[in-house]
Amino acid sequence: MSRRRLRALVLAGGRGTRLRPFTPALPKQLMPVAGKPVLVRCLEQLPALGVSEAAVIVGDGRPQIEAVLGDGSGLGLSVTYVPQPEPLGLAHCVALARAFLGDDSFVLCLGDVVVTDGLAAAHERFVCEGPDAVVLTAKVADPRQYGVVEVDGRGRVLALAEKPRVPRSDLVLAGVYFLSPAVHKAVAGLRPSARGELEITDALSALVADGATVLSTPVTGYWKDVGDVEAVLDCNRVLMEALAPERAGSVDAASRLDGTVVVESGASVLRSRLIGPVLVGAGSVVRDSRVGPYTAIGRDCRVSDTEITGSVLLDGAVMAGLDGVHNSVIGRGAEVRATHPRTDRCFLVGDHTYVEV
Ligand code: DAU
Repeated sequence: MSRRRLRALVLAGGRGTRLRPFTPALPKQLMPVAGKPVLVRCLEQLPALGVSEAAVIVGDGRPQIEAVLGDGSGLGLSVTYVPQPEPLGLAHCVALARAFLGDDSFVLCLGDVVVTDGLAAAHERFVCEGPDAVVLTAKVADPRQYGVVEVDGRGRVLALAEKPRVPRSDLVLAGVYFLSPAVHKAVAGLRPSARGELEITDALSALVADGATVLSTPVTGYWKDVGDVEAVLDCNRVLMEALAPERAGSVDAASRLDGTVVVESGASVLRSRLIGPVLVGAGSVVRDSRVGPYTAIGRDCRVSDTEITGSVLLDGAVMAGLDGVHNSVIGRGAEVRATHPRTDRCFLVGDHTYVEV
Protein backbone atom coordinates (compact mmCIF):
# COMPACT_ATOMS: atom_id res chain seq x y z
CA MET A 1 0.00 0.00 0.00
CA SER A 2 1.55 3.30 -1.04
CA ARG A 3 1.23 5.95 1.63
CA ARG A 4 0.95 9.59 0.65
CA ARG A 5 1.65 12.46 3.00
CA LEU A 6 -1.72 14.01 3.75
CA ARG A 7 -2.35 17.58 4.82
CA ALA A 8 -5.74 19.07 5.71
CA LEU A 9 -7.56 22.19 4.58
CA VAL A 10 -10.50 23.09 6.80
CA LEU A 11 -12.91 25.82 5.73
CA ALA A 12 -14.16 28.10 8.49
CA GLY A 13 -14.81 31.34 6.61
CA GLY A 14 -18.07 32.19 4.85
CA ARG A 15 -21.12 34.10 6.06
CA GLY A 16 -23.49 31.67 7.78
CA THR A 17 -26.63 33.66 6.93
CA ARG A 18 -28.94 30.69 7.63
CA LEU A 19 -27.83 30.62 11.28
CA ARG A 20 -28.99 34.11 12.19
CA PRO A 21 -29.40 35.51 14.88
CA PHE A 22 -26.34 33.60 16.15
CA THR A 23 -24.20 34.56 13.17
CA PRO A 24 -22.36 36.75 12.27
CA ALA A 25 -21.43 37.42 15.95
CA LEU A 26 -20.58 33.71 16.29
CA PRO A 27 -18.77 32.04 13.37
CA LYS A 28 -21.19 29.23 12.43
CA GLN A 29 -18.41 26.65 12.70
CA LEU A 30 -18.19 27.42 16.44
CA MET A 31 -21.82 26.49 17.11
CA PRO A 32 -21.65 23.86 19.87
CA VAL A 33 -23.37 20.52 19.39
CA ALA A 34 -23.41 18.15 22.37
CA GLY A 35 -21.08 20.60 24.11
CA LYS A 36 -18.40 20.91 21.43
CA PRO A 37 -18.03 23.29 18.46
CA VAL A 38 -18.63 21.64 15.08
CA LEU A 39 -15.19 22.85 13.93
CA VAL A 40 -13.43 21.11 16.83
CA ARG A 41 -15.28 17.88 15.99
CA CYS A 42 -14.03 18.22 12.43
CA LEU A 43 -10.38 18.81 13.36
CA GLU A 44 -10.21 16.10 15.99
CA GLN A 45 -10.87 13.45 13.32
CA LEU A 46 -7.74 14.39 11.36
CA PRO A 47 -4.89 12.79 13.35
CA ALA A 48 -6.51 9.34 12.83
CA LEU A 49 -6.06 9.92 9.07
CA GLY A 50 -2.34 10.54 9.59
CA VAL A 51 -2.73 14.32 9.27
CA SER A 52 -0.40 16.40 11.43
CA GLU A 53 -0.64 19.78 9.67
CA ALA A 54 -3.89 21.61 8.94
CA ALA A 55 -4.62 25.00 7.41
CA VAL A 56 -7.85 26.65 8.55
CA ILE A 57 -9.45 29.21 6.24
CA VAL A 58 -10.84 32.09 8.31
CA GLY A 59 -12.83 35.23 7.59
CA ASP A 60 -14.02 37.87 10.08
CA GLY A 61 -14.42 35.17 12.74
CA ARG A 62 -10.67 34.61 12.95
CA PRO A 63 -10.12 35.96 16.51
CA GLN A 64 -12.83 33.68 17.96
CA ILE A 65 -11.69 30.67 15.95
CA GLU A 66 -8.07 31.22 16.95
CA ALA A 67 -9.12 31.55 20.60
CA VAL A 68 -10.71 28.08 20.41
CA LEU A 69 -8.14 26.19 18.29
CA GLY A 70 -4.92 28.00 19.20
CA ASP A 71 -1.93 26.42 17.51
CA GLY A 72 -3.81 23.11 17.26
CA SER A 73 -1.54 21.27 19.69
CA GLY A 74 -4.50 20.48 21.98
CA LEU A 75 -5.94 18.46 19.08
CA GLY A 76 -2.66 16.81 18.09
CA LEU A 77 -2.24 19.11 15.07
CA SER A 78 -0.18 22.04 13.91
CA VAL A 79 -2.71 24.63 12.71
CA THR A 80 -1.92 27.45 10.25
CA TYR A 81 -4.51 30.17 9.65
CA VAL A 82 -5.15 31.36 6.11
CA PRO A 83 -7.25 34.55 5.94
CA GLN A 84 -9.92 34.85 3.26
CA PRO A 85 -10.98 38.51 2.96
CA GLU A 86 -14.21 37.65 1.03
CA PRO A 87 -16.02 34.30 0.84
CA LEU A 88 -15.40 33.73 -2.85
CA GLY A 89 -15.97 30.00 -2.84
CA LEU A 90 -14.63 26.64 -1.73
CA ALA A 91 -12.18 26.40 -4.63
CA HIS A 92 -10.99 29.96 -3.86
CA CYS A 93 -9.97 28.59 -0.44
CA VAL A 94 -7.91 25.86 -2.15
CA ALA A 95 -6.17 28.52 -4.25
CA LEU A 96 -5.46 30.66 -1.15
CA ALA A 97 -3.88 27.67 0.61
CA ARG A 98 -1.73 26.73 -2.41
CA ALA A 99 1.58 27.58 -0.67
CA PHE A 100 0.64 25.59 2.45
CA LEU A 101 -0.53 22.58 0.42
CA GLY A 102 2.51 22.45 -1.86
CA ASP A 103 2.50 19.25 -3.89
CA ASP A 104 1.01 17.10 -1.12
CA SER A 105 -2.34 15.38 -1.24
CA PHE A 106 -4.87 16.84 1.16
CA VAL A 107 -8.25 16.32 2.73
CA LEU A 108 -10.59 19.27 2.29
CA CYS A 109 -13.19 19.49 5.07
CA LEU A 110 -16.06 21.93 5.46
CA GLY A 111 -15.90 23.27 9.00
CA ASP A 112 -19.69 23.33 9.42
CA VAL A 113 -20.26 19.67 8.59
CA VAL A 114 -20.47 16.78 11.05
CA VAL A 115 -19.57 13.32 9.74
CA THR A 116 -19.34 10.55 12.33
CA ASP A 117 -18.24 7.71 10.03
CA GLY A 118 -16.92 7.09 6.55
CA LEU A 119 -13.71 9.13 6.55
CA ALA A 120 -11.44 6.15 7.16
CA ALA A 121 -12.98 4.14 4.27
CA ALA A 122 -12.65 7.10 1.88
CA HIS A 123 -9.05 7.64 2.96
CA GLU A 124 -8.29 3.95 2.46
CA ARG A 125 -9.67 4.12 -1.07
CA PHE A 126 -7.63 7.25 -1.77
CA VAL A 127 -4.41 5.64 -0.55
CA CYS A 128 -4.91 2.14 -1.97
CA GLU A 129 -6.43 2.90 -5.38
CA GLY A 130 -4.43 6.08 -6.06
CA PRO A 131 -7.20 8.10 -7.79
CA ASP A 132 -7.07 11.85 -8.31
CA ALA A 133 -9.86 12.40 -5.80
CA VAL A 134 -12.25 10.58 -3.46
CA VAL A 135 -15.37 12.41 -2.29
CA LEU A 136 -17.69 11.45 0.54
CA THR A 137 -21.32 11.29 -0.50
CA ALA A 138 -24.69 11.14 1.22
CA LYS A 139 -28.25 10.54 0.06
CA VAL A 140 -30.77 13.30 0.72
CA ALA A 141 -34.45 13.76 0.01
CA ASP A 142 -33.99 17.21 -1.56
CA PRO A 143 -30.56 17.56 -3.23
CA ARG A 144 -31.12 21.05 -4.65
CA GLN A 145 -29.06 22.82 -1.96
CA TYR A 146 -26.01 20.58 -2.45
CA GLY A 147 -23.40 19.49 -4.96
CA VAL A 148 -25.11 16.61 -6.77
CA VAL A 149 -23.09 13.59 -7.96
CA GLU A 150 -23.78 10.87 -10.52
CA VAL A 151 -21.75 7.68 -10.03
CA ASP A 152 -21.41 4.27 -11.67
CA GLY A 153 -21.82 0.93 -9.86
CA ARG A 154 -18.25 1.07 -8.48
CA GLY A 155 -18.65 4.58 -7.12
CA ARG A 156 -16.71 6.29 -9.90
CA VAL A 157 -17.98 9.83 -10.35
CA LEU A 158 -19.40 10.44 -13.84
CA ALA A 159 -20.82 13.94 -13.48
CA LEU A 160 -21.40 16.67 -10.87
CA ALA A 161 -23.52 19.80 -10.58
CA GLU A 162 -23.57 22.44 -7.81
CA LYS A 163 -27.07 23.20 -6.48
CA PRO A 164 -28.90 22.21 -9.68
CA ARG A 165 -32.55 23.20 -10.07
CA VAL A 166 -33.31 19.74 -11.44
CA PRO A 167 -31.04 17.21 -9.68
CA ARG A 168 -30.09 14.13 -11.70
CA SER A 169 -29.57 11.96 -8.59
CA ASP A 170 -30.23 11.97 -4.86
CA LEU A 171 -26.52 11.57 -4.06
CA VAL A 172 -24.73 14.71 -2.83
CA LEU A 173 -21.26 15.86 -1.85
CA ALA A 174 -21.09 15.52 1.94
CA GLY A 175 -18.31 18.08 2.44
CA VAL A 176 -15.17 15.91 2.77
CA TYR A 177 -12.89 15.58 -0.25
CA PHE A 178 -9.58 13.69 -0.52
CA LEU A 179 -7.66 15.48 -3.27
CA SER A 180 -4.40 14.93 -5.08
CA PRO A 181 -2.36 17.95 -6.25
CA ALA A 182 -4.00 17.47 -9.70
CA VAL A 183 -6.87 19.60 -8.34
CA HIS A 184 -4.74 22.77 -8.43
CA LYS A 185 -4.68 22.88 -12.23
CA ALA A 186 -8.47 22.40 -12.29
CA VAL A 187 -8.92 25.20 -9.72
CA ALA A 188 -6.65 27.54 -11.69
CA GLY A 189 -8.90 27.15 -14.75
CA LEU A 190 -12.20 27.95 -12.95
CA ARG A 191 -14.53 30.86 -13.63
CA PRO A 192 -17.01 32.10 -10.97
CA SER A 193 -20.34 30.22 -10.95
CA ALA A 194 -23.77 31.82 -11.32
CA ARG A 195 -23.65 32.68 -7.58
CA GLY A 196 -20.25 34.34 -8.07
CA GLU A 197 -18.17 31.67 -6.33
CA LEU A 198 -15.30 29.44 -7.41
CA GLU A 199 -16.90 26.04 -6.82
CA ILE A 200 -14.93 22.96 -5.80
CA THR A 201 -17.72 21.01 -7.52
CA ASP A 202 -16.73 22.67 -10.81
CA ALA A 203 -13.05 21.78 -10.20
CA LEU A 204 -14.10 18.14 -9.73
CA SER A 205 -16.19 18.34 -12.94
CA ALA A 206 -13.09 19.63 -14.77
CA LEU A 207 -11.08 16.69 -13.43
CA VAL A 208 -13.75 14.24 -14.62
CA ALA A 209 -13.92 15.94 -18.04
CA ASP A 210 -10.14 15.62 -18.26
CA GLY A 211 -10.36 11.84 -17.78
CA ALA A 212 -9.06 11.93 -14.17
CA THR A 213 -10.30 9.28 -11.74
CA VAL A 214 -12.70 10.73 -9.19
CA LEU A 215 -14.17 8.13 -6.83
CA SER A 216 -16.85 8.33 -4.16
CA THR A 217 -17.59 6.52 -0.94
CA PRO A 218 -20.74 6.91 1.13
CA VAL A 219 -20.95 8.39 4.60
CA THR A 220 -21.77 5.43 6.79
CA GLY A 221 -22.71 7.11 10.08
CA TYR A 222 -24.53 10.34 10.86
CA TRP A 223 -23.96 13.31 8.57
CA LYS A 224 -25.23 16.88 8.88
CA ASP A 225 -24.46 20.25 7.35
CA VAL A 226 -25.01 22.26 10.53
CA GLY A 227 -26.15 25.29 8.55
CA ASP A 228 -29.43 26.18 10.25
CA VAL A 229 -31.09 25.98 13.65
CA GLU A 230 -33.06 22.84 12.86
CA ALA A 231 -29.82 21.10 11.86
CA VAL A 232 -28.09 22.27 15.07
CA LEU A 233 -30.85 20.79 17.22
CA ASP A 234 -30.96 17.54 15.23
CA CYS A 235 -27.19 17.13 15.38
CA ASN A 236 -27.15 17.96 19.10
CA ARG A 237 -29.80 15.32 19.70
CA VAL A 238 -27.90 12.60 17.80
CA LEU A 239 -24.44 13.35 19.22
CA MET A 240 -25.75 13.57 22.79
CA GLU A 241 -26.64 9.88 22.49
CA ALA A 242 -22.88 9.18 22.45
CA LEU A 243 -22.06 11.12 25.65
CA ALA A 244 -20.41 9.20 28.48
CA PRO A 245 -21.71 10.00 31.97
CA GLU A 246 -19.49 12.24 34.09
CA ARG A 247 -19.96 13.75 37.54
CA ALA A 248 -17.08 16.20 38.02
CA GLY A 249 -19.32 18.97 39.40
CA SER A 250 -21.64 18.85 42.42
CA VAL A 251 -25.16 17.44 42.65
CA ASP A 252 -27.12 17.93 45.87
CA ALA A 253 -29.12 15.20 47.60
CA ALA A 254 -32.44 16.78 46.57
CA SER A 255 -31.66 16.35 42.86
CA ARG A 256 -32.41 13.30 40.73
CA LEU A 257 -30.40 12.30 37.67
CA ASP A 258 -31.64 9.67 35.20
CA GLY A 259 -29.93 8.39 32.04
CA THR A 260 -26.65 9.81 30.75
CA VAL A 261 -25.86 13.05 32.52
CA VAL A 262 -22.61 15.00 32.36
CA VAL A 263 -21.99 17.55 35.11
CA GLU A 264 -18.67 19.20 34.30
CA SER A 265 -16.25 20.52 36.90
CA GLY A 266 -17.37 23.56 38.83
CA ALA A 267 -21.01 23.04 37.76
CA SER A 268 -23.73 22.58 40.40
CA VAL A 269 -27.14 20.99 40.29
CA LEU A 270 -29.54 21.91 43.07
CA ARG A 271 -33.07 20.58 43.75
CA SER A 272 -33.44 19.60 40.09
CA ARG A 273 -34.44 16.64 37.94
CA LEU A 274 -32.12 15.90 35.00
CA ILE A 275 -33.31 13.39 32.41
CA GLY A 276 -30.40 12.32 30.18
CA PRO A 277 -28.88 12.82 27.86
CA VAL A 278 -28.08 16.13 29.52
CA LEU A 279 -24.87 18.10 29.69
CA VAL A 280 -24.23 20.80 32.28
CA GLY A 281 -21.14 22.76 31.24
CA ALA A 282 -18.33 23.83 33.56
CA GLY A 283 -19.28 26.54 36.03
CA SER A 284 -23.02 26.40 35.28
CA VAL A 285 -25.71 26.31 37.96
CA VAL A 286 -29.03 24.48 37.53
CA ARG A 287 -31.50 24.98 40.35
CA ASP A 288 -35.15 24.05 40.95
CA SER A 289 -35.45 22.94 37.33
CA ARG A 290 -36.35 19.99 35.17
CA VAL A 291 -33.84 19.55 32.32
CA GLY A 292 -33.72 17.13 29.42
CA PRO A 293 -33.63 14.94 27.58
CA TYR A 294 -31.29 16.15 24.77
CA THR A 295 -30.34 19.40 26.41
CA ALA A 296 -26.80 20.78 26.31
CA ILE A 297 -26.09 23.66 28.68
CA GLY A 298 -22.85 25.53 27.93
CA ARG A 299 -20.33 26.92 30.40
CA ASP A 300 -21.22 29.46 33.11
CA CYS A 301 -24.98 29.34 32.46
CA ARG A 302 -27.73 29.88 35.06
CA VAL A 303 -30.94 27.86 34.78
CA SER A 304 -33.51 28.31 37.53
CA ASP A 305 -37.21 27.42 38.01
CA THR A 306 -37.23 26.23 34.40
CA GLU A 307 -38.43 23.21 32.49
CA ILE A 308 -36.42 22.68 29.29
CA THR A 309 -35.97 19.88 26.78
CA GLY A 310 -34.24 19.31 23.40
CA SER A 311 -32.34 22.60 23.54
CA VAL A 312 -28.88 24.16 23.38
CA LEU A 313 -27.73 26.97 25.70
CA LEU A 314 -24.56 28.72 24.65
CA ASP A 315 -21.99 29.89 27.22
CA GLY A 316 -23.22 32.36 29.81
CA ALA A 317 -26.94 32.02 28.96
CA VAL A 318 -29.51 32.62 31.70
CA MET A 319 -33.03 31.12 31.87
CA ALA A 320 -35.38 31.79 34.74
CA GLY A 321 -39.00 30.93 35.53
CA LEU A 322 -39.84 29.26 32.21
CA ASP A 323 -42.06 26.21 31.68
CA GLY A 324 -42.28 23.99 28.63
CA VAL A 325 -39.19 25.26 26.79
CA HIS A 326 -38.26 22.98 23.90
CA ASN A 327 -36.26 23.01 20.64
CA SER A 328 -34.62 26.27 21.61
CA VAL A 329 -31.18 27.76 21.08
CA ILE A 330 -30.14 30.51 23.48
CA GLY A 331 -27.16 32.67 22.51
CA ARG A 332 -24.06 33.52 24.50
CA GLY A 333 -24.81 35.65 27.54
CA ALA A 334 -28.49 35.95 26.57
CA GLU A 335 -31.07 36.15 29.34
CA VAL A 336 -34.63 34.83 29.12
CA ARG A 337 -36.94 35.42 32.07
CA ALA A 338 -40.65 34.78 32.54
CA THR A 339 -42.84 36.91 34.70
CA HIS A 340 -45.97 34.79 34.05
CA PRO A 341 -45.60 31.03 33.69
CA ARG A 342 -46.99 29.52 30.47
CA THR A 343 -46.29 26.22 28.82
CA ASP A 344 -44.94 25.33 25.37
CA ARG A 345 -42.31 27.83 24.39
CA CYS A 346 -39.66 27.77 21.70
CA PHE A 347 -36.93 30.42 21.59
CA LEU A 348 -34.13 31.42 19.26
CA VAL A 349 -32.35 34.13 21.19
CA GLY A 350 -29.17 35.71 19.82
CA ASP A 351 -26.07 36.55 21.88
CA HIS A 352 -26.32 39.07 24.73
CA THR A 353 -30.08 39.59 24.33
CA TYR A 354 -32.55 40.13 27.19
CA VAL A 355 -36.03 38.64 26.77
CA GLU A 356 -38.85 38.88 29.31
CA VAL A 357 -42.03 36.95 28.63
O1 DAU B 1 -22.80 20.56 2.97
C1 DAU B 1 -22.28 20.01 1.78
C2 DAU B 1 -22.29 21.05 0.68
O2 DAU B 1 -21.35 22.07 1.04
C3 DAU B 1 -21.91 20.42 -0.68
O3 DAU B 1 -22.88 19.48 -1.08
C4 DAU B 1 -21.78 21.52 -1.73
O4 DAU B 1 -21.36 20.96 -2.94
C5 DAU B 1 -20.77 22.57 -1.27
O5 DAU B 1 -20.68 23.63 -2.21
C6 DAU B 1 -21.15 23.12 0.10
O6 DAU B 1 -22.34 23.89 -0.06
P1 DAU B 1 -22.79 24.99 1.02
O7 DAU B 1 -23.68 25.98 0.35
O8 DAU B 1 -23.36 24.28 2.21
O9 DAU B 1 -21.42 25.70 1.41
P2 DAU B 1 -21.21 26.83 2.46
O10 DAU B 1 -21.34 28.16 1.80
O11 DAU B 1 -22.04 26.56 3.68
O12 DAU B 1 -19.67 26.65 2.84
C7 DAU B 1 -19.17 25.44 3.37
C8 DAU B 1 -18.09 25.78 4.40
O13 DAU B 1 -17.01 26.49 3.80
C9 DAU B 1 -18.54 26.64 5.56
O14 DAU B 1 -17.86 26.21 6.75
C10 DAU B 1 -18.10 28.04 5.20
C11 DAU B 1 -16.82 27.76 4.42
N1 DAU B 1 -16.53 28.74 3.37
C12 DAU B 1 -17.46 28.94 2.39
C13 DAU B 1 -17.20 29.80 1.34
C14 DAU B 1 -18.20 30.00 0.23
C15 DAU B 1 -15.32 29.42 3.36
O15 DAU B 1 -14.48 29.22 4.27
N2 DAU B 1 -15.08 30.27 2.34
C16 DAU B 1 -15.95 30.51 1.31
O16 DAU B 1 -15.64 31.31 0.39
